[in-house]
Amino acid sequence: MTYTPTRRTFLTTAGAAMVSTWTRPGLAALAAKPKTLTAEPGAIPLIGGRYPDTQVWTYNGGVPGPELRFKQNDNLKINFVNKLPDPTTVHWHGLRLPNAMDGVPDLTQPPVKPGGSFDYAFGLPDAGTYWYHPHVKSSEQVGRGLYGPLIIEEADPPRVDREVTWVIDDWRLGQDGQIAGDFNDMRDMSHGGRMGNLMTLNGRDSQRFPVRAGERLRLRIINVANARIFGLRFDGHHPTIIAMDGHPVAPHVPHQNRVTLGPGQRADLIIDMEGRPGDLTAVVDDNSGRRKYVYLEFDYSAEAPLRTSPLDAPKALAANPLPGLDIANAETHALSIAGGAMGGMTGAKYKGRDMDIRSLAQEHGKVWALNGITFHGMDAAPLFRFQKGRTQVMTLRNDTSWPHPMHLHGHVFKILERGGKPDPVQPWTDTILLAPNEVSKIAFVADNPGKWLFHCHILGHTQAGMACVTEVA
Ligand code: C2O
Ligand code: CU
Repeated sequence: MTYTPTRRTFLTTAGAAMVSTWTRPGLAALAAKPKTLTAEPGAIPLIGGRYPDTQVWTYNGGVPGPELRFKQNDNLKINFVNKLPDPTTVHWHGLRLPNAMDGVPDLTQPPVKPGGSFDYAFGLPDAGTYWYHPHVKSSEQVGRGLYGPLIIEEADPPRVDREVTWVIDDWRLGQDGQIAGDFNDMRDMSHGGRMGNLMTLNGRDSQRFPVRAGERLRLRIINVANARIFGLRFDGHHPTIIAMDGHPVAPHVPHQNRVTLGPGQRADLIIDMEGRPGDLTAVVDDNSGRRKYVYLEFDYSAEAPLRTSPLDAPKALAANPLPGLDIANAETHALSIAGGAMGGMTGAKYKGRDMDIRSLAQEHGKVWALNGITFHGMDAAPLFRFQKGRTQVMTLRNDTSWPHPMHLHGHVFKILERGGKPDPVQPWTDTILLAPNEVSKIAFVADNPGKWLFHCHILGHTQAGMACVTEVA
């Protein structure tokens, strides 16, 4: 007889697995430090219950891939093996690393062919929550499940009862429970990108997350979705954001207890489980207004509260060793984003030629432009040149009807202004989520030489032309 686990038993098992990671961080860290990362096809119980497994692409057989954990200032050394039918690479999202290790095909390395391998090795100057994913046909490869968390532990982590990583995603599945193959659908690419119909937490249907009353968690949330912006509202709780995109911020509870993350972005939260034993508390994603839904429920165990008196407010983490800004002597730049549905872009330059929007879309599948230029490939001339060592100030203007999480490789930037006003948090980030028609200002020190990609992390947008090469020299 075949054993078909019910959703309930599955979740209990998943919960138990997490408990052992929390209670024995030392062992988990050792176990979670593979020397080899292999991209290969696989199958996972994405939906669970009596549904068949879903065919996916994995790192080391799992989705997410293994949680890679290092200590700040460790060296990462990983032999990557490609057992996929397609070329691929590994990009270490958010890390300040040598250009040759950045994993961008035909810009920083040749793509790794099927059956091929590549050694990634570099130092880890910054603590924080990062992730890794391919950079070849990202919309499809990330959409098939290729992603994993990369955690770099600070020397003096905040005291919590449990530390948990939440890799949040959505998948577009057909009736058969298999991934829909329409990765470069023109309608998706010219609108908000590829939205899924199954929400997952750590590669499983997100239903319930077991907690105990009174415990304090550190949640590391990583949005790996193709296009979905999550606005997770922790009703009845007061999550304190202590880091964004890996870098410490002044601890603060966000407006309406909502943590908003665009694709590619991460947040570290300290959250006290304020409910009572036996409670079921919804975490609602209401980022897209009327289409809000319950992302998951905190499932409070019947156990007595772990503590009854409230803990002290979380303290700030130690800053990472980022270079100091010299705004007075900065080079200045402007980036304007145009195109997409309801955007009014009439045309753009493509491979040096002026093209109207209709031919761009029909002949090349492109609908977006940065400073009037639609990205065609890695041999494009740099759109921005940054003098090495200088502070760069860039004004970003989103002249479209869609939000865009803009991601710069190899550097982290400070968000100085949003919508003409000083950003109250001024976080150091690698991805800025620009609202439709938003104008914002960022600054960074161009201290990492090489050619670096700058693109929208809605992966279909990148595919449809919203990217550029920058050069630090
Ligand atoms: Cu997370 Cu260019 O990517
Ligand atoms: Cu975009």
